[in-house]
Amino acid sequence: MRLPKWCVLGVVVALGLLWMLSLPETETSNPLEWHVNHAHKKRMHEHVRRVLASPCRPGGTRRSLLARLPASSHMTQAFLWKDIPPPDGLFWYPPPFGFKGLASKVENLLNQLPDSDSAPQAEKTSDECRRCVVMGNGGILRGLELGQLINRFDTVIRLNSGPLGEFSVDVGNRTSIRMSYPEGTPLRWIDTDKHTLFVAVVYKGVDISWISAMINKLSVPLWDWIFFWQKVPDALALEPRRFRLLNPDVIREAALDLLQYPPPRLRLWGTDQNVPTMGVSALNLASLLCDEVSLAGFGYNLSQQGAPLHYYDKLSMAAMLKQTSHNVDKETELLRSLVKEGAIADLTGGIHCSFCTPPATPTL
Ligand SMILES: *[C@@H]1O[C@H](CO)[C@@H](O)[C@H](O)[C@H]1NC(C)=O
Ligand SMILES: *[C@@H]1O[C@H](CO)[C@@H](O)[C@H](O)[C@H]1NC(C)=O
Repeated sequence: MRLPKWCVLGVVVALGLLWMLSLPETETSNPLEWHVNHAHKKRMHEHVRRVLASPCRPGGTRRSLLARLPASSHMTQAFLWKDIPPPDGLFWYPPPFGFKGLASKVENLLNQLPDSDSAPQAEKTSDECRRCVVMGNGGILRGLELGQLINRFDTVIRLNSGPLGEFSVDVGNRTSIRMSYPEGTPLRWIDTDKHTLFVAVVYKGVDISWISAMINKLSVPLWDWIFFWQKVPDALALEPRRFRLLNPDVIREAALDLLQYPPPRLRLWGTDQNVPTMGVSALNLASLLCDEVSLAGFGYNLSQQGAPLHYYDKLSMAAMLKQTSHNVDKETELLRSLVKEGAIADLTGGIHCSFCTPPATPTL
């Protein structure tokens, strides 16, 4: 029997919706039991201490990334501001690579954002050398008690709803930046750090209306709710000057230049495989804000199926094998080569583990 095209399309869309509805809940009850190897943990702590004690190279990570980026990337700004003209090409691509078709919405939003000189700064000043850590949400962090070492980084960048609270022993309790899109944002604000900035990432037009509602402490327009695939917060406990709008060039660079994905095509629904994960986008952002960038909680070890997928929930690595939406291999390949060339450090070793095999001669 031949099915009409619209029917096949309907099934595909329905399956897509089902997949999205089955995405992990961010509840934090009953984390999966996981046994930590103490020798491994000790070597990891020593590795992180070495990273923190090594000389800080001004502009180090960005310089390494620029070798893979076009000349125009020397000018990339991290955020968009009310008082700074937006970058050329802002409207060339649709979200998340640009704001094509959203000019008036974006103009409105820019007017609600703070002036660049009145807002608390995430960007470094010229006379300091800043070390950042981008905290992935990987289960690899579970039970390793890295919290106090993580807190020693100058800037701690957290992604989506990555929780603190009872997990602070493992992941620290400072948050300099929380970077997220509406559906990924914690329903109740969890950062107690009074320095936290919220960096909003736009994946679709309605995300702009949501950011605007959050800044102005207004409720989300009723009509907008149908465009979100998961419940989104209806308020964020943050002053307006703590909101930042990510420059979509940061994601475009990550996708088209660092990962060398093809430019976006017209798409019907959901995400192509050319959209980088928040982790790789955050790394590119961190390279603009910091001198040396480290990653923690990145990488999946698919051969350890019983291992936890996230540090905070009950999902195991086996759940990862079932999903096909992210191009995990391509990202891992990029991150591994950046770690190997010394552009970034991998604190927890899920990407490239430099501390996993003990050195033959114990000189350190
Ligand atoms: C983090 O924990 C330390 C030690 O308990 C505490 O002194 C500090 O105020 C906490 N910081 C934040 C931002 O919660
Ligand atoms: C993944 O887990 C397996 C089994 O525990 C281990 O042998 C392997 O070294 C791990 N790979 C990485 C990259 O950590």
